[in-house]
Amino acid sequence: MEKRIAIAIDGPAAAGKSTVAKRVAQVLNFTYVDTGAMYRAFTYAVIQKGLDPKDEEQAVSLIPGLSIDLAENGHVYLNSQDVTDVIRTPLVSGNVSYIAAMKPVRLALVEMQRAIAEKKSVVMDGRDIGTYVLPNAEVKIFQIASVETRAIRRYEENLEKGLKTTLKEVEEDLRKRDYIDSHREFSPLKPAPDSVLLDTSYMSVLEVVEAILKIIKEKTGIEILCH
Ligand code: DC
Repeated sequence: MEKRIAIAIDGPAAAGKSTVAKRVAQVLNFTYVDTGAMYRAFTYAVIQKGLDPKDEEQAVSLIPGLSIDLAENGHVYLNSQDVTDVIRTPLVSGNVSYIAAMKPVRLALVEMQRAIAEKKSVVMDGRDIGTYVLPNAEVKIFQIASVETRAIRRYEENLEKGLKTTLKEVEEDLRKRDYIDSHREFSPLKPAPDSVLLDTSYMSVLEVVEAILKIIKEKTGIEILCH
Protein backbone atom coordinates (compact mmCIF):
# COMPACT_ATOMS: atom_id res chain seq x y z
CA MET A 1 0.00 0.00 0.00
CA GLU A 2 1.19 3.51 -0.78
CA LYS A 3 2.42 5.55 2.18
CA ARG A 4 -0.16 8.01 3.48
CA ILE A 5 0.99 11.59 3.79
CA ALA A 6 -0.42 14.27 6.09
CA ILE A 7 -0.20 18.01 5.56
CA ALA A 8 -1.26 20.09 8.59
CA ILE A 9 -2.34 23.69 8.08
CA ASP A 10 -3.02 25.57 11.31
CA GLY A 11 -3.59 29.20 12.16
CA PRO A 12 -6.08 31.72 13.52
CA ALA A 13 -9.63 32.23 12.26
CA ALA A 14 -10.08 33.53 8.72
CA ALA A 15 -6.38 33.36 7.83
CA GLY A 16 -7.47 31.82 4.52
CA LYS A 17 -6.55 28.27 5.54
CA SER A 18 -9.56 26.51 4.09
CA THR A 19 -9.37 28.13 0.63
CA VAL A 20 -5.70 27.29 0.38
CA ALA A 21 -5.95 23.82 1.95
CA LYS A 22 -8.77 22.85 -0.43
CA ARG A 23 -6.72 23.94 -3.44
CA VAL A 24 -3.56 22.17 -2.22
CA ALA A 25 -5.58 18.98 -1.60
CA GLN A 26 -7.02 19.20 -5.12
CA VAL A 27 -3.57 19.57 -6.71
CA LEU A 28 -2.16 16.62 -4.73
CA ASN A 29 -5.34 14.54 -5.04
CA PHE A 30 -5.46 14.27 -1.23
CA THR A 31 -8.56 14.47 0.96
CA TYR A 32 -9.27 17.88 2.44
CA VAL A 33 -10.38 17.79 6.09
CA ASP A 34 -11.91 20.96 7.53
CA THR A 35 -11.74 20.31 11.28
CA GLY A 36 -13.26 23.73 12.06
CA ALA A 37 -16.42 22.54 10.28
CA MET A 38 -16.58 19.64 12.74
CA TYR A 39 -16.46 21.98 15.78
CA ARG A 40 -19.04 24.18 14.06
CA ALA A 41 -21.35 21.21 13.37
CA PHE A 42 -21.10 20.15 17.01
CA THR A 43 -21.92 23.72 18.09
CA TYR A 44 -24.95 23.72 15.82
CA ALA A 45 -26.10 20.41 17.31
CA VAL A 46 -25.99 21.99 20.79
CA ILE A 47 -27.90 25.11 19.68
CA GLN A 48 -30.45 23.09 17.70
CA LYS A 49 -31.25 21.02 20.78
CA GLY A 50 -31.80 24.23 22.78
CA LEU A 51 -28.78 23.49 25.02
CA ASP A 52 -26.35 26.09 26.39
CA PRO A 53 -23.07 26.15 24.37
CA LYS A 54 -21.21 27.38 27.47
CA ASP A 55 -22.40 24.46 29.60
CA GLU A 56 -19.96 21.57 29.25
CA GLU A 57 -22.21 18.97 30.85
CA GLN A 58 -25.06 19.77 28.46
CA ALA A 59 -22.81 19.85 25.39
CA VAL A 60 -20.98 16.65 26.27
CA SER A 61 -24.30 14.80 26.63
CA LEU A 62 -24.56 14.94 22.83
CA ILE A 63 -21.31 13.06 22.15
CA PRO A 64 -22.76 9.50 22.22
CA GLY A 65 -24.44 8.79 18.92
CA LEU A 66 -23.09 11.94 17.28
CA SER A 67 -22.24 11.60 13.61
CA ILE A 68 -20.45 14.31 11.64
CA ASP A 69 -19.55 13.61 8.02
CA LEU A 70 -17.38 15.69 5.76
CA ALA A 71 -18.45 14.65 2.27
CA GLU A 72 -16.02 14.70 -0.67
CA ASN A 73 -18.15 17.45 -2.30
CA GLY A 74 -17.47 19.76 0.65
CA HIS A 75 -20.88 19.36 2.29
CA VAL A 76 -21.06 18.86 6.04
CA TYR A 77 -23.62 16.47 7.56
CA LEU A 78 -24.73 16.30 11.16
CA ASN A 79 -26.58 13.04 11.81
CA SER A 80 -27.47 13.02 8.06
CA GLN A 81 -28.75 16.63 8.10
CA ASP A 82 -26.98 18.94 5.62
CA VAL A 83 -25.60 21.76 7.84
CA THR A 84 -23.08 23.17 5.32
CA ASP A 85 -24.53 26.71 5.32
CA VAL A 86 -25.99 27.02 8.79
CA ILE A 87 -22.63 26.29 10.49
CA ARG A 88 -21.23 29.54 8.98
CA THR A 89 -23.88 31.81 10.52
CA PRO A 90 -22.88 34.36 13.22
CA LEU A 91 -24.82 32.39 15.85
CA VAL A 92 -22.54 29.38 15.34
CA SER A 93 -19.35 31.46 14.80
CA GLY A 94 -20.03 33.35 18.04
CA ASN A 95 -20.36 30.18 20.12
CA VAL A 96 -17.97 27.68 18.54
CA SER A 97 -14.94 28.71 20.62
CA TYR A 98 -16.74 27.75 23.85
CA ILE A 99 -17.50 24.30 22.46
CA ALA A 100 -13.96 23.91 21.06
CA ALA A 101 -12.52 24.58 24.52
CA MET A 102 -14.26 21.51 26.02
CA LYS A 103 -11.79 18.65 26.37
CA PRO A 104 -14.30 15.76 25.95
CA VAL A 105 -15.61 17.36 22.74
CA ARG A 106 -12.07 17.76 21.42
CA LEU A 107 -11.17 14.17 22.27
CA ALA A 108 -14.23 12.87 20.40
CA LEU A 109 -13.58 14.99 17.30
CA VAL A 110 -9.82 14.36 17.30
CA GLU A 111 -10.56 10.63 17.23
CA MET A 112 -12.64 11.13 14.06
CA GLN A 113 -9.91 13.32 12.52
CA ARG A 114 -7.16 10.78 13.20
CA ALA A 115 -9.34 7.97 11.81
CA ILE A 116 -9.64 9.86 8.49
CA ALA A 117 -5.87 10.46 8.32
CA GLU A 118 -5.20 6.77 8.99
CA LYS A 119 -7.09 5.80 5.85
CA LYS A 120 -6.12 8.53 3.39
CA SER A 121 -3.51 11.13 2.56
CA VAL A 122 -4.91 14.39 3.89
CA VAL A 123 -4.58 18.12 3.94
CA MET A 124 -6.12 18.93 7.32
CA ASP A 125 -6.77 22.46 8.50
CA GLY A 126 -7.46 23.60 12.04
CA ARG A 127 -5.77 24.96 15.14
CA ASP A 128 -4.01 21.98 16.72
CA ILE A 129 -3.36 19.65 13.81
CA GLY A 130 0.45 19.98 13.87
CA THR A 131 0.69 20.12 17.66
CA TYR A 132 -1.82 17.48 18.73
CA VAL A 133 -3.97 15.76 16.11
CA LEU A 134 -1.21 14.68 13.70
CA PRO A 135 2.12 15.37 15.45
CA ASN A 136 3.89 13.22 12.86
CA ALA A 137 2.51 15.10 9.86
CA GLU A 138 5.12 15.29 7.10
CA VAL A 139 4.48 19.01 6.56
CA LYS A 140 3.20 21.56 9.08
CA ILE A 141 2.24 25.06 8.03
CA PHE A 142 1.20 27.80 10.48
CA GLN A 143 -0.65 30.36 8.40
CA ILE A 144 -1.18 33.83 9.83
CA ALA A 145 -2.40 37.27 8.65
CA SER A 146 -3.13 40.51 10.48
CA VAL A 147 -6.54 40.67 12.16
CA GLU A 148 -7.51 43.60 9.90
CA THR A 149 -6.72 41.61 6.73
CA ARG A 150 -8.55 38.58 8.07
CA ALA A 151 -11.60 40.65 9.00
CA ILE A 152 -11.83 42.14 5.49
CA ARG A 153 -11.44 38.67 3.90
CA ARG A 154 -14.14 37.14 6.09
CA TYR A 155 -16.45 40.17 5.68
CA GLU A 156 -16.21 39.88 1.87
CA GLU A 157 -16.86 36.13 2.03
CA ASN A 158 -19.96 36.81 4.15
CA LEU A 159 -21.21 39.39 1.65
CA GLU A 160 -20.84 36.86 -1.17
CA LYS A 161 -22.84 34.34 0.84
CA GLY A 162 -25.52 36.95 1.57
CA LEU A 163 -24.75 36.91 5.30
CA LYS A 164 -25.53 40.25 6.91
CA THR A 165 -22.61 41.29 9.15
CA THR A 166 -20.64 44.52 9.57
CA LEU A 167 -16.86 44.68 9.26
CA LYS A 168 -16.70 45.73 12.94
CA GLU A 169 -18.74 42.71 14.05
CA VAL A 170 -16.54 40.36 12.02
CA GLU A 171 -13.34 41.85 13.48
CA GLU A 172 -14.69 41.64 17.03
CA ASP A 173 -15.70 38.01 16.52
CA LEU A 174 -12.22 37.14 15.18
CA ARG A 175 -10.46 38.87 18.08
CA LYS A 176 -12.69 37.08 20.60
CA ARG A 177 -12.19 33.68 18.96
CA ASP A 178 -8.41 34.15 18.62
CA TYR A 179 -8.25 34.97 22.32
CA ILE A 180 -10.35 31.99 23.47
CA ASP A 181 -8.69 29.58 20.98
CA SER A 182 -5.16 30.51 22.06
CA HIS A 183 -5.83 30.70 25.80
CA ARG A 184 -7.78 27.46 26.32
CA GLU A 185 -6.12 24.94 28.58
CA PHE A 186 -6.28 21.86 26.37
CA SER A 187 -4.69 21.93 22.91
CA PRO A 188 -4.59 25.71 22.35
CA LEU A 189 -3.87 27.42 19.06
CA LYS A 190 -0.10 27.69 18.75
CA PRO A 191 2.51 26.87 16.12
CA ALA A 192 4.18 23.46 16.34
CA PRO A 193 7.94 23.91 16.86
CA ASP A 194 8.58 22.17 13.53
CA SER A 195 6.02 24.19 11.57
CA VAL A 196 6.74 26.68 8.80
CA LEU A 197 5.30 30.11 9.60
CA LEU A 198 3.62 31.77 6.63
CA ASP A 199 2.38 35.37 6.91
CA THR A 200 -0.18 35.76 4.14
CA SER A 201 -1.22 39.37 4.90
CA TYR A 202 0.19 40.57 1.59
CA MET A 203 -0.09 37.39 -0.47
CA SER A 204 -2.76 36.31 -2.95
CA VAL A 205 -4.39 32.87 -2.63
CA LEU A 206 -2.37 31.71 -5.63
CA GLU A 207 0.90 32.85 -4.05
CA VAL A 208 0.09 31.07 -0.79
CA VAL A 209 -0.81 27.85 -2.64
CA GLU A 210 2.44 28.04 -4.63
CA ALA A 211 4.47 28.65 -1.45
CA ILE A 212 2.87 25.68 0.34
CA LEU A 213 3.32 23.35 -2.64
CA LYS A 214 7.00 24.33 -2.76
CA ILE A 215 7.39 23.50 0.95
CA ILE A 216 5.58 20.16 0.44
CA LYS A 217 7.85 19.30 -2.47
CA GLU A 218 10.97 20.15 -0.47
CA LYS A 219 9.89 18.21 2.61
CA THR A 220 8.35 15.12 1.01
CA GLY A 221 9.91 14.88 -2.42
CA ILE A 222 6.42 14.47 -3.93
CA GLU A 223 6.44 15.25 -7.62
CA ILE A 224 3.88 17.99 -8.21
CA LEU A 225 3.06 17.91 -11.89
CA CYS A 226 0.72 20.68 -12.97
CA HIS A 227 -1.78 22.86 -11.16
O1 DC B 1 -11.58 27.29 11.21
P1 DC B 1 -12.93 27.72 11.75
O2 DC B 1 -13.04 29.21 11.96
O3 DC B 1 -14.07 27.20 10.96
O4 DC B 1 -13.02 27.04 13.20
C1 DC B 1 -14.13 27.22 14.02
C2 DC B 1 -13.69 27.17 15.48
O5 DC B 1 -13.32 25.84 15.82
C3 DC B 1 -12.53 28.06 15.85
O6 DC B 1 -12.95 29.22 16.55
C4 DC B 1 -11.64 27.22 16.71
C5 DC B 1 -12.17 25.83 16.64
N1 DC B 1 -11.21 24.87 16.11
C6 DC B 1 -10.38 24.25 17.01
O7 DC B 1 -10.41 24.59 18.20
N2 DC B 1 -9.56 23.26 16.60
C7 DC B 1 -9.50 22.90 15.32
N3 DC B 1 -8.69 21.92 14.94
C8 DC B 1 -10.33 23.55 14.37
C9 DC B 1 -11.17 24.55 14.80
